[in-house]
Amino acid sequence: MKNWKLAPIALGLAAFVGTSGYALGDDDATKMTDEELQDQIAQSRAAIEQFASTLQSELMAAMEEGGPIQAIEVCNERAPEIEQRISAEFGRDIGRTSLKIRNPENSPDEWERIQLEHFESLRADGTPADQLDPRHEVVEDEDGARFRFMAAIPTGGACLACHGTDISSDVKHALERLYPDDEATGFSEGDVRGAFTITHEM
Ligand code: HEC
Repeated sequence: MKNWKLAPIALGLAAFVGTSGYALGDDDATKMTDEELQDQIAQSRAAIEQFASTLQSELMAAMEEGGPIQAIEVCNERAPEIEQRISAEFGRDIGRTSLKIRNPENSPDEWERIQLEHFESLRADGTPADQLDPRHEVVEDEDGARFRFMAAIPTGGACLACHGTDISSDVKHALERLYPDDEATGFSEGDVRGAFTITHEM
């Protein structure tokens, strides 16, 4: 009961430590110098760390104050606001996505879906969700060149009150009211819940 109070919320920041990320495409093809590439990676990580820690502290404060029902309201209203503020601050688009989404606004595009599927397959082969290297690629299409970066978000024990398999009926009702097409339940601790995703126009 109320195990969300006991477990610290881990948003997978360990995944960013000590790894430069996995380059997918041939970054040389875009004439980006190594220094520019490292700068893109550093900026992406900084934006994600700030986004993750802000979400985490607001979520925990709401949980402490009013339990999961109040925290759902906070996620619903505050998550998009925090997302916008940090995107503006870092001059790049930041968000969260998943193969099983709660808010349809967070649906993955094709590039994001491929990375999420890759995280899932590494996870299935035994890499723990909090040790998946972030992935990045310079994507060029008719809209120009963009630097894209994604980092997996592991499911911690504290997430299960709202994303697990055994969700209380009042939480279930609150979620159904706000998210009639919610797909983001049925997760277990250690699953990949989704990913932070960054796009930077170049
Ligand atoms: C109090 C309930 C609650 C808890 C606890 C909770 N979430 Fe969520 N989560 C939500 C809600 C509500 C949304 C939809 C937010 C929105 O509308 O943008 C959401 C959305 C997300 C998304 C965005 C993708 C999507 O499905 O729309 C991710 C990723 C996510 N949560 C991960 C986590 C992780 C990881 C944890 C544990 C550290 C966690 N959540 C804990 C309620 C919760």
